[in-house]
Amino acid sequence: MSDRCNRVCPVERAGSLDNRIRRWFQNPQKILGPYIKEGMTVLEVGCGPGFFSVAMALMAGKSGQVIACDLQEGMLQKVREKIDGTELEARIKLHKCEEGKIGVSDHVDFVLLFYVVHEIQNKEGLFDEIRSILKPNGQVLIVEPPFHVSKSAFEETIKKAREVGLIDTDGPNMLFHKTVILEKG
Ligand SMILES: C[S@@+](CC[C@H](N)C(=O)[O-])C[C@H]1O[C@@H](n2cnc3c(N)ncnc32)[C@H](O)[C@@H]1O
Repeated sequence: MSDRCNRVCPVERAGSLDNRIRRWFQNPQKILGPYIKEGMTVLEVGCGPGFFSVAMALMAGKSGQVIACDLQEGMLQKVREKIDGTELEARIKLHKCEEGKIGVSDHVDFVLLFYVVHEIQNKEGLFDEIRSILKPNGQVLIVEPPFHVSKSAFEETIKKAREVGLIDTDGPNMLFHKTVILEKG
């Protein structure tokens, strides 16, 4: 993949990741509803401005917890501004990752990697770390964008997940997107 595809999405583009138009095309409830149940602990790696993290906190309910992590403090700040003073403040834990290390020790039921895996250089390290914190019946959903990520690059990603012992099955059907569900072997 080219450098252009691997570049980290800048904070200035946060507006394009959280708006009404996106909600029409990518309704979080429709995409994630089959995977997230009340009371779950959910991790989003590369949460950006929190389009999915906020929705997942509503789905996981009062007894659930979302760990929203991102490499960029500016993205976490966008999430903070949305939840400050609301009941979601207690349900969403913001965490700043480092390149090559998520650094979360909580055991999680579900991990969301939406439009982020192509931005991460060390994919083996990412999957290894996720496997170590995934609960026995936990699931990981990867969604990659239609044109930005080629079929072969996506297959390469799945191969790296298999190498650390994750098992892949079909992800949700999303027009032109590449999706996969990973589980512990
Ligand atoms: C294209 S945005 C997608 C944001 C969000 N998942 C969404 O769909 O709205 C990718 C996000 O991943 C973050 N990111 C890139 N590399 C990362 C890494 N190694 N660890 C954590 N976050 C990362 C970027 O800072 C950016 O906020």
